[in-house]
Amino acid sequence: MAAAPDMGELEPIETASVDELRALQLDRLRWTVRHAYDNVPHYRAAFDAAGVHPDDVRELADLSRLPFTSKADLRANYPYGMFAVPREQVSRIHASSGTTGQPTVVGYTAEDLDTWATVMARSIRAAGGRPGDILHNAYGYGLFTGGLGAHAGAEKLGCTVVPVSGGMTERQVRLIVDFEPRIIMVTPSYMLAVVDEMRRQGVDPRSTSLEIGIFGAEPWTNEMRREMEDVLGIDAVDVYGLSEVMGPGVAQECVETKDGLHVWEDHFYPEVIDPVTGEVLPDGEEGELVFTSLTKQAMPVIRYRTRDLTRLLPGTARTMRRMEKITGRTDDMIILRGVNLFPTQIEELLLQIEDLSPHFQCVLSRSGTLDEMTVRVESRDGVGLDVARSAGQELRHMVKSTIGVSVAVDVVPPEGIERSVGKMRRIVDERPKR
Ligand code: DLL
Repeated sequence: MAAAPDMGELEPIETASVDELRALQLDRLRWTVRHAYDNVPHYRAAFDAAGVHPDDVRELADLSRLPFTSKADLRANYPYGMFAVPREQVSRIHASSGTTGQPTVVGYTAEDLDTWATVMARSIRAAGGRPGDILHNAYGYGLFTGGLGAHAGAEKLGCTVVPVSGGMTERQVRLIVDFEPRIIMVTPSYMLAVVDEMRRQGVDPRSTSLEIGIFGAEPWTNEMRREMEDVLGIDAVDVYGLSEVMGPGVAQECVETKDGLHVWEDHFYPEVIDPVTGEVLPDGEEGELVFTSLTKQAMPVIRYRTRDLTRLLPGTARTMRRMEKITGRTDDMIILRGVNLFPTQIEELLLQIEDLSPHFQCVLSRSGTLDEMTVRVESRDGVGLDVARSAGQELRHMVKSTIGVSVAVDVVPPEGIERSVGKMRRIVDERPKR
């Protein structure tokens, strides 16, 4: 009798040689470009306008000749204009919330859903998950890709999934205590809220059955990893993805190295570009991440500009390249008196100060013609106001000496800052509209 497959084993492509991987990518890229050109009027028009044709793609480097795709292109083709297959072949639709304009719609064929489940299962395995593990999934279910995406991957790996979704924090804690999951999937900011609720209920966060946290959907730093691992006694690893490219499971950090996220390059081809000039940057340089899907049927994307800032690095635990933890989105860059800064830089600093909690927001205001920023941060539970205030002063000095800009720090009592059940709003813009 054949031995039962050990789902802890890697798929062959995860350890294939770089040459094998590049050959597969080229094949798939040529198929994708042809498929997009033949079936999506937007791509045909964009290629024609740029004077390129699918036949011009003879090697991977030729990708740089193709035009970029942006969120605006997806919006302009709302709702189904970017689909490359007849709508009847689309098994599922997801969409962005549309709070800042028209929602962006994405579609998947049955095979696309299977690919997605495969890369998500691969991600959970890379995080240390195994068949038979109980997985508490607190990513939101619905049009957001987090809940259903993680769910399908967990089922495919052979986990027992608890589809909790986000919210009802009291119940999250009860279910973790009662169902004894080994793995939790949730945004890092909501994990913090769940930890607070554990304490409120008298549950020691280190005492639960949890061993692995797979955190993503928003930027978080290595300092936050240390905090989570410390407080919860778990391994905390990063999962990345975006709806336009697939959903969660585009890239995943391996638990054995925790050194950035391996991009599942057999399905998603990454580039990093200079966000201003659009020029492709060599691996190792920081810029805007751009993705081309290599196998997607319903909605291929060619050179999709993510607005996420990172660097590409060589593979370690896997052959496939890594991306460094995301610094932030280009839209979230704060410019204060000529200095660029991201909320993740504040997170890195404030987590070094014991008397401050990890709950914070960057509040932007304007005095006269000058933009100003206040870091609003909660004190740690049980820390007196005076002590917390002097910790706030320490943060102010650290920001000045490491980032080089003056900010105000407003230390508020515990629970003084709104909690998210999904992605946390890190920047609160109170500047008058010009
Ligand atoms: O957030 C997909 C996802 C769900 C990823 C669950 C991971 C876990 P969107 O709502 O389309 O999809 O938002 C995508 O979220 O462009 C990044 O700006 C940000 N993002 C996602 N993962 C990470 C991460 C999902 N690990 C946008 N680190 C992306 C930093 C992330 N930012």
